[in-house]
Order: sequence, then C-alpha cells, then structure tokens
Amino acid sequence: MDIAVCVGTCCYLNGSYDTLKEFTSQADKAGIKDKVNLHATFCLEGCSQSPSIRINEEIIEGVTSDKVAGIFKKKVLDKVK
Ligand code: FES
Repeated sequence: MDIAVCVGTCCYLNGSYDTLKEFTSQADKAGIKDKVNLHATFCLEGCSQSPSIRINEEIIEGVTSDKVAGIFKKKVLDKVK
C-alpha cells in the first residue's frame, strides 16, 4: 500500500510534517511498516484543504495529525491486515 503525504508549501505550512510523523508512528505501532510505502510527495493539488495525502490512488484532504489515527485505521489497517 502506498501512502504519500504532501510536503508542498501549503501542506507544509499547515503541518504536513506532523501528519507524516503520525503516519510513521501509527505504522510502527501496528507493526506493518514493511507493508506500507510511506513517503513524502509534492503538491497533490488539494492546497486549499491542506494537508493532503494520497493512499494508493485516493486523495484525502485536510489530514491534520489529529485525524491520522482514524484514517489510518479505516483506510490502511483494515485493508492491510
Ligand atoms: S501543497 Fe499540498 S496539495 Fe498543494
């Protein structure tokens, strides 16, 4: 599973590095780091609702770090396990 967190200017300014850190932490805690390709990417064209992420082909906007746990469980963990 591919998880890309935008680190373009808008997303960066709205906390995407915290979002990326939280995804890393969630993957670590769940013990599935080897099953996800977690990486930074540039603009996903969702700047107005940043931070934006892409899970496989799905773009999700407004993913602040406090929303990561819920999205991770629903979109990643339930599908990987
Ligand atoms: S900078 Fe992240 S979507 Fe544009």
